[in-house]
Amino acid sequence: MQIESIGIIGTGVIGSSWAAFYASKGFRVKMWDVDATVGQNGQQQAVDTIKLLQTQGMLSGDTVQESISRIKVAGALEQAVENVQLVQESVAENYEIKQQVFKALDAHTDPAAILASSSSGLLMTPIQQVTNHPGRCLIAHPFNPPHLIPLVELVPGDETDEQAISKMKIFYEGLGKVPVVLKKAVPGHLANRLAMALWREAVDLVANGIASVEDVDKAVSAGPGLRWAVMGPHMIYHLGGGPGGMDHFIDHFAPAVKVWWESLASWTSLPPEAKNLLVGGLKEEMGERTMADMNRMRDEKLVKMLKILFED
Ligand SMILES: NC(=O)c1ccc[n+]([C@@H]2O[C@H](COP(=O)([O-])OP(=O)(O)OC[C@H]3O[C@@H](n4cnc5c(N)ncnc54)[C@H](O)[C@@H]3O)[C@@H](O)[C@H]2O)c1
Repeated sequence: MQIESIGIIGTGVIGSSWAAFYASKGFRVKMWDVDATVGQNGQQQAVDTIKLLQTQGMLSGDTVQESISRIKVAGALEQAVENVQLVQESVAENYEIKQQVFKALDAHTDPAAILASSSSGLLMTPIQQVTNHPGRCLIAHPFNPPHLIPLVELVPGDETDEQAISKMKIFYEGLGKVPVVLKKAVPGHLANRLAMALWREAVDLVANGIASVEDVDKAVSAGPGLRWAVMGPHMIYHLGGGPGGMDHFIDHFAPAVKVWWESLASWTSLPPEAKNLLVGGLKEEMGERTMADMNRMRDEKLVKMLKILFED
C-alpha cells in the first residue's frame, strides 16, 4: 500500500513539525489534537514552518501554497486517520495516553496502514499490546525539529512485523531522511541514550565547579560536536588511531581512558543543585539574546550544515 495520506495525532512541537515536513514532500496531511486550540496552533505552526523552509531554500519543486493546501485539521481522531496509509502519532510521552491513542487508531484505520509513534524513549511492546493488529505498530522517533534533522530511529516491539520496519526504512530514505534500525528495543533508543550519557557528564562538570555552563557547551560544539556532525564516534576514533586504526587506538589509549571512565558521573537522578546552576549559567550564556534568537540561530546554522552534509 503506497503512502499518500498521513494522519498526525498530537500537534504540539513534534506533530506540527512532522506535518510541515510531510506536506512539503507532497503528502496529504490530516492533523488532530485532543486540545482543539493546540490543533489550530499546530496547523499555524506547520504553515509557518513551510514558509521558513522556503526562505531557507529547503522546499524543492513546490510552492508554499501547494504545500500548505495539503494540510487539514480534522474534527476528530476518526476523521484524521480515515483513508490514511500512515499515522505519525506524536502525543504526550506517557504509556497510558499512547495506549489509549493506539487502541483508537487500531479501531479506525485500515489494518494495512502503518502506526508509527514518535516516542523519544518508550518501548513499543506495551503500546502495541492493546491493538488487534500489532504487527504494523513501530517507533519512528525523529530528532527535533523533524522538518530539518534527518535521523529517524526505527524500533520494533516484540510483535512488530519485520516488513513494517523495512517498509518504513525505504519510505524515510526516499524522503531524504537517515533511518537507523534498532535490532532490539531499549529505553531511550540510540541517540537519546548517547545524548543523555554525555549530558549527565556535562551537568556533573558544572555541578562540581569544573567549568561554567558556557564553557562546557563550547567544549562540545566547538570541538567533538563538529566532528560528530561528519561521522560517528567509532569512525572518529578509528581515524584517531592513525594507520593502525581502532586496533592501535585501543592499545594506545585504553589504559589512560580507564582512569577517566572511573571518574565519570554515574548518578541516575539530577543532583539537587544542578537545576539552579544550569538555569543561571544558561542566562549568562544567552546574554541579551532571546529564546527566539537562539532558535533562529540554531535553525539557520543547521540548514547551512545540512546543505553541506546531505545535499549531493
Ligand atoms: N520535543 C522533542 O524534542 C521531541 C523529539 C522527538 C520526539 N518527541 C516525542 O514526540 C511526542 C510528542 O512530544 P512533543 O514534544 O511534541 O509534546 P507536546 O507537548 O508539544 O505535544 C503533545 C501533544 O499531544 C496532545 N495530546 C495529549 N494527549 C492526547 C490524546 N489522547 N490525543 C491526541 N492528542 C493528545 C497534547 O494536547 C499536546 O498538544 C512524544 O512522544 C515525545 O517523546 C519529542
